[in-house]
Amino acid sequence: MGRDPLTFLTGLRDQYGDIARVPLGPETLYLFSHPDLVRDVLVTNHRNFHKGRGLERAKMLLGEGLLTSEGDFHLRQRRLAQPAFHRQRVAAYGATMATYAAARRDRWRAGTTIDAHQEMMALTLAIVGKTLFDADVEHEAAEIGAALATTFESFHFGFFLPFGELLERLPLPATLRFRKARARLDATVYRLIEERRRSGGDRGDLLSMLLLAQDTEGDGGRMTDLQLRDEAMTIFLAGHETTANAMTWTWYLLSQHPEVEARVHTEIDAALGGRVPSADDLPLLPYTRMVLAESMRLYPPAWIVGRRAIGPFDANGYTIPARSIVLLSQYTMHRDARWFPDPERFDPERFTPERQAERPKFAYFPFGSGPRVCIGEQFAWMEGLILLATIAQRWRLRLVPDHPIALQPIITLRPKHGIRMIVEERR
Ligand code: HEM
Repeated sequence: MGRDPLTFLTGLRDQYGDIARVPLGPETLYLFSHPDLVRDVLVTNHRNFHKGRGLERAKMLLGEGLLTSEGDFHLRQRRLAQPAFHRQRVAAYGATMATYAAARRDRWRAGTTIDAHQEMMALTLAIVGKTLFDADVEHEAAEIGAALATTFESFHFGFFLPFGELLERLPLPATLRFRKARARLDATVYRLIEERRRSGGDRGDLLSMLLLAQDTEGDGGRMTDLQLRDEAMTIFLAGHETTANAMTWTWYLLSQHPEVEARVHTEIDAALGGRVPSADDLPLLPYTRMVLAESMRLYPPAWIVGRRAIGPFDANGYTIPARSIVLLSQYTMHRDARWFPDPERFDPERFTPERQAERPKFAYFPFGSGPRVCIGEQFAWMEGLILLATIAQRWRLRLVPDHPIALQPIITLRPKHGIRMIVEERR
């Protein structure tokens, strides 16, 4: 499980079916691999499933932010942040997304080699910084990227050990590296908060919303700096790492499937005629959307979600005891031949409205579901499509021959060795 979780989980599903039990020291894990069970855990019975363990560790980085908090506190924070993610608001972010994508695209030179993963990380970081915090963080991208990689790696370290949290309190080299990296990320986040407190005013972005938010139902107080830090750190990380991975895998897949790439080009050229895209253009890009959906099927940026059962739960006649950990894996579910025949094949046609209607809804859940569904889902679709359309208007990305492709499932599904690609002029 620790060494190669994707193969391990897939093996469990293949060997034991829809419900697999894994005793692990003092913990018992269950892997659920059926759309009905996914719905039960995330939606129908969500009250019986808390985020719990795993998050105790995420909390070391994210504190009590939207992703990690529970209960009434989570509800309140979600309510406060929600306006920043309303449809019209997200549509307004489209212009910033396109401007940043075009600027990065225009910096590339034909015939040069880029690391698509690094490029996409820097781009999505800049976009989340500008849209939600009205801040320019692009010049810090390299440092932030390195700090992030370190924090993620230390999550990997001992992730599935029952005493993982204790290990992290000891002054081991990995722990010390983690703390240093967290301090680097904190520096940026606290700087943004402090700058905004000083300049004051409502800039209409997420940071203003959080700063001005008053808990009218509670004690009427505002958020403390620590609360703000936790929320900001959460959105900052959740809002760029995931989309960057989705984009990176999409470039890789397009490079391997020239016929799909050609259709994307035709659609983009017809819809935009060389213009930079805006939110209004997205309905004109249905095939490009199918490509992105299929890419997140094969390479779901969030490859697993976990919950802890509060009370016992009846799963198809098996009793799952209270306190068990239940895992739902997008990676294994999205590659299940029952819902996705010939699952390893990249085929965007799986996402025509007709084909989608033939499958159970919860066979595909890259953004989760229920009350804890990704708050940034619309944001991510908009960003993915705008970035794809803007960059593919000008360039074709070709995989550097023999570049190794390997999956690194830590918190998100990253390419282990990056993805080195050659930039090729389309016309
Ligand atoms: C392709 C891109 C993305 C994917 C695949 C993704 C996936 C997910 C998933 C699966 C969850 C639910 C986790 C669970 O149930 O345990 C989640 C939650 C969350 N995501 Fe995303 N996400 C993406 C982009 C974004 C963006 C762009 C933002 C913000 C700008 C964001 C912010 C969040 C937050 C704050 C939560 C926690 C929501 C809550 O618990 O109330 N995500 N995401």
